[in-house]
Amino acid sequence: MEPRRSTRFFIFSVATCRESVRTSFVKPEKIVVFTGAGVSAESGLNTFRDSGGLWENFRIEDVATPEAWARDPQLVLDFYNLRRKALESVEPNPAHFAIAELEKEHEVVVITQNVDDLHERGGSSNIIHLHGSLLEVKSSIDPTYKIPYPKEGLSLDHRCPRGGRMRPDIVWFGEAVENFEIAIEQLQQADKVLVIGTSLSVYPAAGLVHEAPAHAEKTIIALDLDFIPDDYRFIHGTAGEQVPKLASKWLEKG
Ligand code: APR
Repeated sequence: MEPRRSTRFFIFSVATCRESVRTSFVKPEKIVVFTGAGVSAESGLNTFRDSGGLWENFRIEDVATPEAWARDPQLVLDFYNLRRKALESVEPNPAHFAIAELEKEHEVVVITQNVDDLHERGGSSNIIHLHGSLLEVKSSIDPTYKIPYPKEGLSLDHRCPRGGRMRPDIVWFGEAVENFEIAIEQLQQADKVLVIGTSLSVYPAAGLVHEAPAHAEKTIIALDLDFIPDDYRFIHGTAGEQVPKLASKWLEKG
């Protein structure tokens, strides 16, 4: 984990567009929404950096690295089984729903660092996960072998057909980010970029904000940020309050 350097493809520190019936004369645009933990905070999922350096009482290096998996796989599974369980008791919030609403008039691509499925449940149809997903587990020797996250939780006894241990389908620190090239391509085509609830401190994902074209309208919604990238307008506030406001403006006049 290091701040803002290193190779593009490895995590460190710390479409289809739905055709819709148009009901107004809003000019359809391509909106790329880039989200982090803050968009799910009001659903009840804690962000990492707002919880004092611990993630749900665990140290990141003990649970979210390949080294942690090699050292103490049971601790890693305990952590992710809790995260997976927590998904069952949360619901999308107004921010997730408002992002999905934008599809009524616009082509919308959601690029998320989150491993929850709240964008999916909020109704978004074109979602790119950069850091994996809590909905599946994969083989530690063949990452293309994936199955749904077991209802009873993942255990050390779960194995792939080749005998490899199954692990969470999560991109750990030090591992290659998924779908990164696709995400760059999407951002480069954006008319509007909306960044929500990310501290922009985990790379390479955070670097994506610089991929938007010069002419794109760029906005960031968050509670606080250490820095605001050039050309971005910062809206201070909660996602649940600010995203629906902005989305309804964009649906009224594009
Ligand atoms: N509404 C909007 N923004 C919020 C809210 C909210 N209700 N609550 C918190 N935030 C903001 C915080 O101010 C902060 O800027 O969300 C951001 C959360 O930052 P992080 O916890 O660092 O989350 P994120 O940027 O998604 O982390 C990136 O780090 O933990 C790893 O791999 C994990 O994908 C994750 C990555």
